[in-house]
Amino acid sequence: MKHLVSMKQLTNEQIHALLDRADTFKKDGIRELPGKYTVSNLFFEPSTRTKMSFEMAERKLGMDVLPFEAGFSSTLKGETLYDTVKTLEAIGVDTLVIRHPEDGYYEQLIERTNLSIVNAGDGSGQHPTQSLLDLFTIKEEFGTFEGLTVLIAGDIAHSRVARSNADALKNLGAKVIFLSPAEWAGEFNCVNRWDDVIGQCDVVMLLRVQHERHEGDVYFTKESYHAQYGLTEERAKQLQDHTIIMHPAPFNRGVEIADYLIESPKSRIFQQIENGVFIRAAVLETILTGRN
Ligand code: NCD
Repeated sequence: MKHLVSMKQLTNEQIHALLDRADTFKKDGIRELPGKYTVSNLFFEPSTRTKMSFEMAERKLGMDVLPFEAGFSSTLKGETLYDTVKTLEAIGVDTLVIRHPEDGYYEQLIERTNLSIVNAGDGSGQHPTQSLLDLFTIKEEFGTFEGLTVLIAGDIAHSRVARSNADALKNLGAKVIFLSPAEWAGEFNCVNRWDDVIGQCDVVMLLRVQHERHEGDVYFTKESYHAQYGLTEERAKQLQDHTIIMHPAPFNRGVEIADYLIESPKSRIFQQIENGVFIRAAVLETILTGRN
């Protein structure tokens, strides 16, 4: 694997191999890579978890991390993403982790560069390392994907997390149900009432309302969204005993999820964040050492 840009490029075997490697890292610690590699994290959209956990993984792998600040780079002088990538390649960077607002930004890059690209989120397109850490968290909990029902609920149309997880989960044997307001269903077949599905799911994966991608459209107040489409404390009482709650974060407390539920016993939200470091280390190691 030279690049990781989309979950669509991975077979089930490759996914399981990455999850197994992350599991080894979690149990035994992240081992330094056998060679010295340089990485830079190019984030053209805000990020806390993804950027910091990539950086933590890179440091634990013994990589040199070259700082890049999009807000102080030549991008502000009009340099294209392609020219920025070619520049960093010339400087000697081995791997770029890139987050960019344009869907599929990587398509114009992957054939034209010798360095490796890891997609840390493209617009409303894909976010493969988030999907892998979600899969890792589900596998840790249930040991398998076969026969599980996963409910993905929220602003699905604008969510690269939903798009990355949907096919992967189905290919791995889970049933996926989508719940969203009609305005935000996108290409997915969605239900729009919690009562129809809440008792059936093993995993509830909530999504953030992506205000920054709505171009001014306002359909709900925080309160009306929470009442109709959020996981309220009342609704959570109808979940099965074993059902877990996930969210890629950042979460809007009291909008898509009730404040109390975020740190409740059913929540795996901070475990997801922790798992992100091991998954990103597994992905970088796989790319740089050709394990998979
Ligand atoms: C997600 C993203 O950026 O796509 N966050 C993340 O990476 N943990 C989801 C979101 O921003 O809502």
